[in-house]
Amino acid sequence: MRYARISGTGSFLPERIVSNSELALELSTRNILTSDRWIVERTGIHQRHLAKSNVTSSQLAIEAAKLALNKAHLEPLDLDLIIVATSTPDHVFPSTACLVQTALGATKSAAFDIQAACSGFIYALIIAENFICAGNMQNLLVIGSEVFSKLIDWNDRNTCVLFGDGAGATVVTASLTSGIISTHMMSDGNLTDILSVKGNIANGKIIGDPFLRMDGQSVFKKAILALEDSARLVCDRANINPNDIDWFIPHQANIRILHLVAQRLGISMKKIVITLDKHANTSAASIPLALDKACNDNRIKPGDLVLMQGVGAGFTWGSVLMRI
Ligand code: ACO
Repeated sequence: MRYARISGTGSFLPERIVSNSELALELSTRNILTSDRWIVERTGIHQRHLAKSNVTSSQLAIEAAKLALNKAHLEPLDLDLIIVATSTPDHVFPSTACLVQTALGATKSAAFDIQAACSGFIYALIIAENFICAGNMQNLLVIGSEVFSKLIDWNDRNTCVLFGDGAGATVVTASLTSGIISTHMMSDGNLTDILSVKGNIANGKIIGDPFLRMDGQSVFKKAILALEDSARLVCDRANINPNDIDWFIPHQANIRILHLVAQRLGISMKKIVITLDKHANTSAASIPLALDKACNDNRIKPGDLVLMQGVGAGFTWGSVLMRI
């Protein structure tokens, strides 16, 4: 049996940390009222990393990728494919993945981006697994990288407190022993309106609204149902009980979503890897950032069973169950 195994992880966050109180103070100068207390109670977020305005997704991705390759003891020339999941690409084209490829000197690989909003990393990982299991490729780089701060309307308190910037990278390698056991991905295009950035560029102009808009309560409700269903499906396929997993790494959007999903699945709260308190919601980067954190602090150990879940605009969602 041929598996796709995560053989290295890396992450990179912009240097500037903005606490809730600092953000609330800054917003108050424009008569936009929020507080550390509201943000913590409703979301679990305490702070976020924000990139300077000239920093791009590819720059964050390159730093995370170098660390992941180092952990996997691989060179850029060992890579067959680079996939970058992002909703904040540097350009319309070329892809952010091609910019990462050239910066790394990964001249023997193909490279492309995928866009599935906050589910992007899970979608990209499932694509990588399929290339490996088909027998076509040996080593792939799968990255989630975002400068979501560029899509935020900083006058909208409903959304501007929720997001941060960052990148997480994984090296995915063919293995005969352990790795990804079960996957699931799904979309519902009927729900495009509950979470979107509808703007586009055409004829040299921005057409439509260039900022993120969200019906928070609809996203909240849909996310819980979608994540519960998807988790049950991948666990059933692998013939395990959700409570048998060692670590649960859901997309880091809101602590209440994480707790409710874990509760509905019967997963102990102690098994949830939480980074949203420090990173806020980094969209496609949130899962690989959390995975890297839990690998680095030795919570996740070889042999552990890990469930990762993404959910986001589209609406899109999915799960990956893997043995480390
Ligand atoms: N500070 C203070 N008050 C605020 C703020 C803020 N930053 N934002 C909204 N409020 C107010 C609202 O105006 C409202 O006031 P009102 O009752 O006078 O009208 C009140 O707080 C309650 O607003 P709700 O929208 O009901 O608050 P809710 O408890 O639903 O929390 C939240 C909002 C945090 C957005 C929640 O719905 C949520 O987390 N939804 C999930 C969406 C999400 O995580 N999206 C991330 C991107 S999508 C993804 O990653 C899957």
